[in-house]
Amino acid sequence: MGMNEERKLADKMLVRGGKPLNGTVDIQGAKNAALPIMAASILLRGQRLTLDGVPNLYDIQTMRRLLCHLGAEISFDKHRMVIDVPEEIKCETPVELVRQMRASSLALGPLVARCGRALLPLPGGCVLGSRPLDFHLKGLAKMGAEIELKGGAVTATAGRLKGANITLDFPSVGATENLMMAAALAEGVTFIENAAKEPEISNLAEILRLMGAPVKGDGTETIRVTGVERLHSAAGEIIPDRIEAATYLMAGVITNGSVTVRGIPAGIMDAVLGKLQEAGVEIDIFNDEICAKCAGPLKGVTVRTLPYPGFPTDTQPQMMAVLTLADGTSVIHESVFDSRLLHINEFKKLGAKIELQDNVAIVTGVKKLAGTEVHSSNLRAGAALILLGLAAEEETLVCDLQHVWRGYEGLVEKLRSLGAEIEIEAVE
Ligand code: EPZ
Repeated sequence: MGMNEERKLADKMLVRGGKPLNGTVDIQGAKNAALPIMAASILLRGQRLTLDGVPNLYDIQTMRRLLCHLGAEISFDKHRMVIDVPEEIKCETPVELVRQMRASSLALGPLVARCGRALLPLPGGCVLGSRPLDFHLKGLAKMGAEIELKGGAVTATAGRLKGANITLDFPSVGATENLMMAAALAEGVTFIENAAKEPEISNLAEILRLMGAPVKGDGTETIRVTGVERLHSAAGEIIPDRIEAATYLMAGVITNGSVTVRGIPAGIMDAVLGKLQEAGVEIDIFNDEICAKCAGPLKGVTVRTLPYPGFPTDTQPQMMAVLTLADGTSVIHESVFDSRLLHINEFKKLGAKIELQDNVAIVTGVKKLAGTEVHSSNLRAGAALILLGLAAEEETLVCDLQHVWRGYEGLVEKLRSLGAEIEIEAVE
């Protein structure tokens, strides 16, 4: 990791608040589509996967290092990534990379399907509660993999995986993705019931189809994958990032400005746009552009995070930030993760009034927030703290920005283009 990246890892951001944000930002490719699709390249033997629209993010570089460790050769320039996968690759993932990012677990299904064996140290990444891999492992076991958990790592071994009928206990995004990829090289047909329906799942399914794996039903709760012997080179595109788009729209709303996001189909953001409108935000949609503005204080609403197409958990902290300044009370139920409300403590340092009852946050709107030093605990909480800093009076110092670089390409430039007054402070 170069000096520059190390500096980046611990940067702080000084935000001068109180200025409305106005303008237009272009939306990056979706991090949560690019990561599983990069992992799908593991399924290739002596073939090439070419991807356009890949965002240049810290997590993307981590996945790139993981794939290169396995033996792939990767070029990545101006959002175009070319992944060349040799006939033979390693099947053990490096602990130092897996510990950094939970999405490393997406290598598990492709590795055991393609190599007959996979060793994965139990992953790290954002701490959002327990986040086990039991749905992934139970599904792979149903397909014939022998699963062993030992010494903080999981080993999965199999001859050729067999198609199976798998019902997920919860529509887990990662489990759906891992099992779709494993099923692509299994013998026979696999049905995944209670599958996740996120747009990122459909993007992965589209790339698998381009590689020669007949995948059907993506976007519904039943996905059917017909396994094949061998996949082939393909070229595809990463869909736009709906979470990044929501974050910038909310930056405009929280500062009483007007932000337009460009290059995103509004249809994959219905729940977020609907909830913002319910709170009093004016939303205008024109082709692939969405504009959010509000003429005055918002009103409190009830938000319940749900699997897609419900309100996305990845925009829960940002929405909570917006509601800290609304008129009245808001109730926020976090029902996807069992511990994704820890950012409340940092929000309260800025003057937000929030009570926590189990996994429900009761937010009482206040007239203003006062800048201070805050620390981000994960990617989306960090983004939400920046939004609060943009709305608070005086200055807010957001620390531990390494989380934020994982998911937001060109964040500083994009916010400055909207009028934000921010400085990055390298930590000595
Ligand atoms: C993906 O994580 C996203 N990450 C997350 O985005 C997102 O918050 C999450 O889906 C939900 O939408 C990527 O796509 C790389 P899950 P994932 O499996 O797949 C439990 C961001 O900010 N669970 O759908 O890990 C789990 O604990 C990140 O970009 C099990 O119990 O999420 C959670 O409570 C954060 N056992 C719930 O299911 C399992 O085997 C949903 O998790 C798997 C999951």
